[in-house]
Amino acid sequence: MATQQAVYVYETPVRLWHWINAFSILVLAVTGYFIGSPLPTMPGEASANFLMGYIRFAHFAAAFVFAIGFVGRFYWSFVGNHHARQLFRIPLFRAEFWKEAWVELRWYLFLEKEPRKYVGHNPLAQGVMFLMLTMGSLFMILTGFALYSEGAGTDSWFGFFFGWVIPLFGQSQDVHTWHHLGMWYIILFVMTHIYVAIREDIMSRQSLVSTMISGWRMFKDNRP
Ligand code: HEM
Ligand code: HEM
Repeated sequence: MATQQAVYVYETPVRLWHWINAFSILVLAVTGYFIGSPLPTMPGEASANFLMGYIRFAHFAAAFVFAIGFVGRFYWSFVGNHHARQLFRIPLFRAEFWKEAWVELRWYLFLEKEPRKYVGHNPLAQGVMFLMLTMGSLFMILTGFALYSEGAGTDSWFGFFFGWVIPLFGQSQDVHTWHHLGMWYIILFVMTHIYVAIREDIMSRQSLVSTMISGWRMFKDNRP
C-alpha cells in the first residue's frame, strides 16, 4: 500500500499557459471564422458600424497573447521540469516510444484490456500534440504575422521578420487560405484532445483533468 500515489507533473507556468492558450485559441477561431466569412449586412449607416474592426482587433489581441505564450512555453521547455520538454522534443529514435504509442493506439480503439500508467503524456498523446499543436501553432504564428505585416507595412518589423512567408506560398490570398486551413487543423486537435482528456480521466488508471488544474497526477491503483 505504501507506494507513491501522487506525482507533481505540470508546474504552474505550464498550467497557466495551458488555460490561457486554450482561451486565446477559442477567441482566435471564433474571430478568425468571421474574418473569413463576414456577416453580409449590418443595419444603419456604414460609418456607424465598426463590428469587423472589433472582430479583427480581438483577433490580433488574442494573436499576441497566443504568440507570446508560445515563446514563453518554448523557453519553459528548457528551464522547467522533465515533463515541460515533452511538447518540443520527441524521442523519435527510441524503439520503446513507437512500441508504447502502438499499445496506446490500441487502447484508444478499445482493443487493449488495460491501459498503462504514465507520469507525463503517453507517447501517442505526445506525438499528436507535437504534430498538431506545436507545429500547428508555429504555422499559425508565421502565416498570421505575415498577413499582419501587410497591414502594419512591409517596412515594419513584422514585415522584416515575417514578410518572407508570403512569396513562399505564392501571394497574399494563398497565405489567407493556408492560415484558414490551419484553423481547422487546430480545431481537429482540440476536439480530439478534449474527448481523450475526459475519456482518459474516466477510463484510465490515473487523473487527467485535475492534473492540468492542480499539477498533481493521482493514480487509482498501486499495480505497476
Ligand atoms: C484550445 C483548447 C486546448 C488546447 C490547444 C490544449 C492543448 C494542450 C496541450 C498542448 C497540452 C500539453 C501541455 C504541456 O505538456 O505543456 C494539454 C494538456 C492537457 N489538456 Fe489541454 N488543451 C485545450 C483545452 C483543454 C480542455 C478544455 C481540457 C479539459 C477538458 C483540457 C485538458 C487537458 C489535460 C487533462 C491535459 C493533461 C494531459 C495529461 O495529463 O497527459 N485541455 N492540452
Ligand atoms: C490558433 C490560431 C489562429 C487561428 C485559429 C486563426 C484563424 C484565422 C482565420 C480563420 C482567418 C481568416 C482567413 C481568411 O479566410 O481570410 C484569420 C485571419 C487573420 N489572422 Fe489569424 N488565426 C490564428 C492566429 C493568428 C496569429 C498568431 C496572427 C498574428 C498576428 C493572426 C493574424 C491574422 C490576420 C492578420 C488575418 C487577416 C485579417 C484580415 O485580412 O482582415 N492570426 N485568422
